[in-house]
Amino acid sequence: MEDWCEKYRPKSLSEIIGNQSAVEALRKWATEWEHGIPKKRAVILYGPPGVGKTSAAHALANDMGWEIVELNASDFRNQKAIEKIVFPASITMSFGSRRRVILLDEADNFHGTYDRGGVSAVMKVIKKTLQPIILTCNDFYAIPKELRDLCLPIQFKHLSWNSIVKILQRICREERIRCSPSALEKIARNSGGDVRAAINDLQSSVMEGVLDPDNVTVGLRDRERNVFEVVRRVLKEMDGRVMEMVFTLDESPEDLIHWIEENVWREYSGEELLRAYEMLSKADVYLGRVRKRQQYGLWRYATFFMTRGVQHAKKERKGGFTKYGAPTRWLSMYRTKSHREIRERIAEKIGEKLHISKKKAISEMLPYLILSCSDEKFMKELAEFLELEDEEIRYLKIHEKLL
Ligand SMILES: Nc1ncnc2c1ncn2[C@@H]1O[C@H](COP(=O)(O)OP(=O)(O)OP(=O)(O)O)[C@@H](O)[C@H]1O
Ligand SMILES: [Mg+2]
Repeated sequence: MEDWCEKYRPKSLSEIIGNQSAVEALRKWATEWEHGIPKKRAVILYGPPGVGKTSAAHALANDMGWEIVELNASDFRNQKAIEKIVFPASITMSFGSRRRVILLDEADNFHGTYDRGGVSAVMKVIKKTLQPIILTCNDFYAIPKELRDLCLPIQFKHLSWNSIVKILQRICREERIRCSPSALEKIARNSGGDVRAAINDLQSSVMEGVLDPDNVTVGLRDRERNVFEVVRRVLKEMDGRVMEMVFTLDESPEDLIHWIEENVWREYSGEELLRAYEMLSKADVYLGRVRKRQQYGLWRYATFFMTRGVQHAKKERKGGFTKYGAPTRWLSMYRTKSHREIRERIAEKIGEKLHISKKKAISEMLPYLILSCSDEKFMKELAEFLELEDEEIRYLKIHEKLL
């Protein structure tokens, strides 16, 4: 499924909603580059998650017709990479003398992606650069002071809930979603000013082209929202910020592993799924040791395997939108009666559509469906044809993974 956050990412600064003084400051700094080298060769866009920092950097490049060279947090930003990639890019003109802006996205993650020399390498680049540089970060003070002082700080703030409603309305219009104003308001108010969170909530709450206030899946307590964000980062991204996020969660690693286990198969497949399960089982070994010996220090290793380990079971970031679920401990479901009930229900549906007995559906059709469900397109059509509930689709998928 296409990720609406990406699909509706502002392409031009004029499409950025809210944060007008930040946008103006950014525009002004960019215009200075048209007339030479400004006093501050770099800016830091800082502020909370999901308010348009990365989007503004891309939109600016687009508006100015600048080429963009991006090093995001999933790249390994050590001294060598900065010296070999960023520095040369910063002191040369590109072909046809188009300007080139260098984006160091999520630059506050110094521990995860920079080594000691990385910071001084970035400072050297900023001092010498002939091209504009944009850093983004959440925590301004996580950037070392010497580096901060070289940059023009531009603050981004949370959006008001009515600005967020406007963004959501536009998406609903373009996606032809019938939506009730109260549902939009509910999502917007609940987002705490984070546009990404609001768009994600919208996308998870829409059912068959309709947004009904009763289906709005916000009302998520902060606690759940945070854990979903950790799951998303583990499964989609490659960056080191995730370890830090885990330490601020209310969930212990004992709980977190279930959230990751619950969702890993929605995102990974084949080899990477296998490697992810290896990482989870390593994490589990450490959790077991903590339980047995009460050595809570070992949680660190457990956490590392279930977050960074699972992250790196894949080769690159994953795009797209995935609807995650809360842990229901599917393996225990597999052992209980409800598992049988679900199977019976699927068999009944097959029986009705194909005019065969339930028994025959179980013995002849079900194994075939289970084997075929790794084919997403087939599964989707099948689910529509049989009118399968989420739980029933899950049953088929779980069995396919267990085969
Ligand atoms: N001010 C805004 N106007 C319109 N859309 C926005 C705005 N801010 C965020 N969005 C939407 O939210 C998504 C996430 O925004 P973005 O990636 O720019 O956030 P960010 O501030 O860089 O967050 P982070 O600190 O987590 O990197 C965008 O793809 C876009 O769809
Ligand atoms: Mg960003």
